[in-house]
Amino acid sequence: MKPIFYSEEEEMLLSEIIKKPREFFITHKINLSPGRQKMFARGKNMLAKGFPLAYVLGFKWFFGNKFSVNPNVLIPRPETELLVEDVWEQIRKIPKDKNNKIIIADVGTGSGAIVISIAKELEKIRGDARNIYLMGTDISGEALKVAKTNARAILRRKKIKFLKGNLAMPIFSELRRSSFQPEKTFIIITANLPYLSKKELVAPSIKKEPKSALLGGKQKGFETIARFIGQIAKENKLQSAALASVFLEINYNQARMAKKTIRENFPRAKIKLKKDLAGFYRLANFELP
Ligand SMILES: C[S@@+](CC[C@H](N)C(=O)[O-])C[C@H]1O[C@@H](n2cnc3c(N)ncnc32)[C@H](O)[C@@H]1O
Repeated sequence: MKPIFYSEEEEMLLSEIIKKPREFFITHKINLSPGRQKMFARGKNMLAKGFPLAYVLGFKWFFGNKFSVNPNVLIPRPETELLVEDVWEQIRKIPKDKNNKIIIADVGTGSGAIVISIAKELEKIRGDARNIYLMGTDISGEALKVAKTNARAILRRKKIKFLKGNLAMPIFSELRRSSFQPEKTFIIITANLPYLSKKELVAPSIKKEPKSALLGGKQKGFETIARFIGQIAKENKLQSAALASVFLEINYNQARMAKKTIRENFPRAKIKLKKDLAGFYRLANFELP
């Protein structure tokens, strides 16, 4: 019989502990072993303290893959899957010529959700002769540990270089070091950077997530993204590539600011804004001219 005193999250926790679907509780009486009782009590205690279920379980599904998470990383959000889908569309359009080099760099990688999801999709393609290099950066060493664990667990063949540093700086250092044939090099940069304002940070649902992953600074939380766009404008190698395309996740109220900042830095860039399913602009993409 279903115990009526379980919350939805407790049911999900229990379902994970006994490795059975939630429907199982309706038709079966559950006898937990002492070990599992302890696990359940510990999890319930964390939920009661306001920890999100993903931290209690230690994982979150994103783009069909199971990502380990802990309070050092943002829990990947479903809306970020839109960004991955768009990036994937762009990658597919790049000719499968063995001389083509594709660099995919994810800035503020956190759990690695974006770059690992892309790498996983790439692993599924057969007969792809393109040279593809994947990178992920973060300012947090603890977040990079989680990303590396996820890459090892989720990927079979593709390797990702994880680099610690401020925004795109580590990627630019790599670019400057590497051999570069501009007409054959396609660069895709993704970034889901912190974009909340101080005021927005008070929501109870996010209070256990790292502030450094959420707080975007001044300009209604857009400061970090604006700094990042400014950095990109200063990297000459990007301007000479066959393609340099940047995908940014933004907050629902930042579309105008995003367009203005991109335009100020790149007067001739091709800019695309995309709405989420709720009808808010959440994705800004621009291609350097
Ligand atoms: C909103 S989280 C996104 C995490 C992940 N990309 C995702 O989509 O789930 C932002 C990430 O940016 C990182 N970050 C914040 N400021 C940064 C900076 N100046 N340079 C590099 N990474 C930064 C945070 O540590 C955090 O992991």
